[in-house]
Amino acid sequence: MEFTEQLLRDSNAVQKWAMQSLFTQLDSLCEGAIAVDRHARVVWINEKYVKTLGLNSAEEALGREIEEIIPTSLMRRVVETGQPILLDIMEFGNQSFVVTRMPMRNAAGEVIGAIGFVLYDRLQYLKPLVEKFGRHQADFVAARRKLAEHRRPKYTLASFVGGSPACLELKRQARRAAEHDTTVLLLGETGTGKELLAHAIHAASSRAAKPFIGVNMAAVPENLLESEFFGAAPGAYTGADRKGREGKFLLADGGTLFLDEVGDMPYQLQAKLLRVLQEQEVEPLGSNRVIKVDVRVIAATSVDLKRLVAEGTFRSDLFYRLNVLPIAIPPLRERLADLELLCEQILETISERTGLPRREITPTAIAMLATYDWPGNVRELRNVLEQVALLSDNIRLTAEDFTTIVPPAGSSRRDGSGQAVRRYDDALVDFERGLIQSALSAAGGKVEQAAHLLDVSRAALYKKIKKLGL
Ligand SMILES: Nc1ncnc2c1ncn2[C@@H]1O[C@H](COP(=O)(O)OP(=O)(O)OP(=O)(O)O)[C@@H](O)[C@H]1O
Ligand SMILES: [Mg+2]
Repeated sequence: MEFTEQLLRDSNAVQKWAMQSLFTQLDSLCEGAIAVDRHARVVWINEKYVKTLGLNSAEEALGREIEEIIPTSLMRRVVETGQPILLDIMEFGNQSFVVTRMPMRNAAGEVIGAIGFVLYDRLQYLKPLVEKFGRHQADFVAARRKLAEHRRPKYTLASFVGGSPACLELKRQARRAAEHDTTVLLLGETGTGKELLAHAIHAASSRAAKPFIGVNMAAVPENLLESEFFGAAPGAYTGADRKGREGKFLLADGGTLFLDEVGDMPYQLQAKLLRVLQEQEVEPLGSNRVIKVDVRVIAATSVDLKRLVAEGTFRSDLFYRLNVLPIAIPPLRERLADLELLCEQILETISERTGLPRREITPTAIAMLATYDWPGNVRELRNVLEQVALLSDNIRLTAEDFTTIVPPAGSSRRDGSGQAVRRYDDALVDFERGLIQSALSAAGGKVEQAAHLLDVSRAALYKKIKKLGL
């Protein structure tokens, strides 16, 4: 009693005593203990650890580098940094140990070694903790996957649907185009998937991790196209862009520039584009700087560029520069074998997006769709399927579901050049339908309000709606 009280008064002694008992406790409770010197050589190991590690005796370990005994040990790091590793999981063979490691210091505070304890040799003691960690880890992995999905290119060659011979050949060409870093010219009618294919070629190319930048020649006002392409120095011209702007060429540096509707490019600009393609350098408007760029161009056109060359609105030198690797996308009517697969895939995405039940397409419906010419190609097919999904309650779509939407066979005709020509009446009906539908959706489905927007009488609008089968 005397002895204890005296001890407690002497804090140095208390510390020593506490350390002593802590050590004894740990030594007896834990599954193993080991100490190393300043050079991470084993200087002490207890009997339990000798057994756990499968050694014959302590002598086998003494004096050897710690990693010779435990390859994954971090004791050396503790010695080198002087920092403890209070809780860690260490792999040993096919076992996992929960360990703690602390530096040992001399009276002067210098690190003279480290001591490590195996708190548990079986992870299941930590089950509640590990399970919680596992749940967080699973959440984390799911979140990371979502993020990766978001970053992954939206379109790959696999998302270009079709298994017809024509489509397989097309994909073969696209794959080859992806491998070679040359200019590609995509030819195809409207809605055949030129933009989709351009994305896919980029995604399959070595530039996939770099930007894909698109410019639609038909959508940008002519006077802005030049700065849109090549950029403009600050103050190059007055207006919204006084701060200057980065051109699309610069934005696409290292990646792919998609020139959509390249046939609509103004003649003046064509010469400049040609020069950039040849020199791979751009000069922003109003600057005297020339900037090196590394851009792969994929151009697309729905018009016959050769005809434009013959007519003198498209430069032949640019045409030849773009036409290095032409890829023609066949119109839908030339690959009707793909109809079924396309319908299935499109119906799937419609149901995913809208939450409406997933529709099936029957052979009679496919047969009927195959009689149509599809001047708007896959885009038109998508629109038709969206309308049917909204209008019909049938899960299995039959030919009848399409009669009000798909014009009867022969209603679209071709002229000598193979261009689709619609009958005047059909085109007019389509126009009316589109107009009324957009008025109705703007009016939130209220006929009276839609009639007001269109400036027609309510009765007249009702009649039209009935006639058009809306
Ligand atoms: N083979 C295909 N598989 C799946 N979807 C397709 C396919 N082809 C086209 N589409 C879809 O059809 C629509 C039109 O495609 P896209 O915009 O690529 O055509 P486009 O040739 O660029 O048309 P435009 O000349 O009118 O610009 C898009 O919704 C696209 O996802
Ligand atoms: Mg397009």
